Amino acid sequence: MSKSRRKFFIDTDAGTDDAVALIMAMKHPGIDIVGISTSGGNVPLDCVVQNVLYIKELCGHGAPVYVGAAKPILRILDTADFIHGKDGLGDIGLDLTGRVPEEGDARDQLISTLHAHVGELELICLGPLTNLAQIEQREPGILSLAKRIYIMGGLVTLPGNVTPMSEFNIWADPEAAQIVLGAKAKFTMIGWDTTCASSDFTVEEIAAFRHIDTEIARFCADIQNVRINWMHEHKEETAVNLADPLAMAVALDPTLIDRKEYFTMTVRSGEHADPYRGFIDAIPSDDSSTVEFIHTVDRQRYVSLLKSSMTKEGIVL
Ligand code: BDR
Ligand code: CA
Repeated sequence: MSKSRRKFFIDTDAGTDDAVALIMAMKHPGIDIVGISTSGGNVPLDCVVQNVLYIKELCGHGAPVYVGAAKPILRILDTADFIHGKDGLGDIGLDLTGRVPEEGDARDQLISTLHAHVGELELICLGPLTNLAQIEQREPGILSLAKRIYIMGGLVTLPGNVTPMSEFNIWADPEAAQIVLGAKAKFTMIGWDTTCASSDFTVEEIAAFRHIDTEIARFCADIQNVRINWMHEHKEETAVNLADPLAMAVALDPTLIDRKEYFTMTVRSGEHADPYRGFIDAIPSDDSSTVEFIHTVDRQRYVSLLKSSMTKEGIVL
């Protein structure tokens, strides 16, 4: 039984939708989360670490959490707390202090875990790619030891969510994204366009999570309020785009994939305010060793997987 369990290492900048994605993995009976690495991103690193530790507690899960990169390789950290809340979990009054992560640096742990499970470890990346880039810089070729690397980030169809050309995780640390996507490894990418196509939720759909009537379901709904209010004020449509849960769903169950395409990808750097900062030049390819980009998933089955992770039983296979 334990032999057939998949091994995930999750890299996160938690983040409200990272939180929901982490819950999905923690509530899946077929996954061993062998480690969680953190980086600054949606909110500063200290908040990210506390948030992941809180979510672990909420789920009663024992995954080890490690502290990683506080900031992008070259750039200043530019957070997205107007969407995720100052504390990164929607400012709903949670006590997000005092929890203690594992000793040891996340990048050291990623390296040693990849060596310990050659060809078996699946990396699920839900934030800027700083930690992964830094281990590839330190030990060129290390990422090729992963079974597959799932990336929430980027896009091949415009527009993006930071600039019209770019998505947050790639925009935040474009140098890291180029190092990672330039490495030899098997990549599956779930983009901002994928998210808009398959993981848009109305305010009512988010509110309906509460009908599941568990602490986890209420948490998943409540933490979206900062984003909902911001969308009300700044956008005509109030959709909640749950990017990271969609990426996690693809990793948990690749049979959800509906339409995909392969691309060779190069990431543009760009000055701070350059609209092309983090833009991905994506060239369609026939070669399945290039980046597998997911365009759409079976939404009905995806939503059902998402909601089942919030139930008392968790995901039942
Ligand atoms: C990505 O950026 C963050 O706001 C989300 O957590 C997601 O990882 C979407 O662009
Ligand atoms: Ca994220």
